[in-house]
Amino acid sequence: MTNKKIVILGTGGTIAGTASNAADHLGYTAAQVGIAQLVAGLPLTGNACELMSEQVAQIDSKDMDFAVWQVLAQRVSHWLAQPDVQGIVITHGTDTLEETAWFLQAVLNPERPVVLTCAMRPATALAPDGPQNMLDAVAVAAHAGARGVVAVCAGVIHGARDVQKVHTYRLDAFSSGDAGPLGYVEEGRLRLVRNWPQAPVDKAQAAIKNIAAAAGSLPWPRVEIVMNYAGAGAAVVRALVADGVQGLVVAGTGNGTLHHALEVALLEAQADGVRVVRATRCLEGRVLPKPGDAIPDSQGLSPVKARVALMLAMRGQG
Ligand code: SIN
Repeated sequence: MTNKKIVILGTGGTIAGTASNAADHLGYTAAQVGIAQLVAGLPLTGNACELMSEQVAQIDSKDMDFAVWQVLAQRVSHWLAQPDVQGIVITHGTDTLEETAWFLQAVLNPERPVVLTCAMRPATALAPDGPQNMLDAVAVAAHAGARGVVAVCAGVIHGARDVQKVHTYRLDAFSSGDAGPLGYVEEGRLRLVRNWPQAPVDKAQAAIKNIAAAAGSLPWPRVEIVMNYAGAGAAVVRALVADGVQGLVVAGTGNGTLHHALEVALLEAQADGVRVVRATRCLEGRVLPKPGDAIPDSQGLSPVKARVALMLAMRGQG
């Protein structure tokens, strides 16, 4: 009988990083070790699944962009179309992992698991966290009934919608906020506390399903993020509008509140045809809309994920 396959796609990050000194967790270079080498280093004897690997990109995830996302979505689609592939693991830098996870969930809504994993210490560290995170991610990808895009870090399983990097250096750097994690990986076994991610409810869903197959054929709309803060004004929004921005996500304070000067500029932009969405800069909770709100809320998405959703919605309608 043929074993089920798990495909591990490498994109770079600290998990593939190297430093000249094993005690150095800061002065390293991300995205140096190939995915085949990372997989070869895993102690996987007796695993019921066959592991395959493919290098899709080799970047520090601060440099992530839509071009890489399109290639990644295409490769995930390709592998998930093979009936003997049980699931996908993607190694990724921590810095934009949550954006990639949300992009893949929004465009693919996969029936099988797509598990992003990462590391906070480079591969050359005295005690690297990457190998254990990869083992945990493989356990999630191999789990019967697992589905959707999730992230695994420090033994915690997070859904694509809620996961956020919340710490700059701790190994357990991610949180799902007040939604809580999906579950935990405990010595290779899963303990689930929530359901696997389901499809995002989005009218543009059907249209954006083709995005993975259409790499490069359409330009992405330009959507930027602005923030509310004490003394926020109109100048940044007006400069962006003058520069041709097509969409704006505002990271409001509290329940999406806006300094009146910033709000005036955003309403002017909206009246000029710029799509504007209101999120919150708070790490937990969501913007609760009121009847008559002039600027639509982000449906619980963080500012960076609301930007991805707005770009997809604008392109899906294009
Ligand atoms: C990156 O995001 O690629 C570098 C930082 C990290 O992976 O922790």
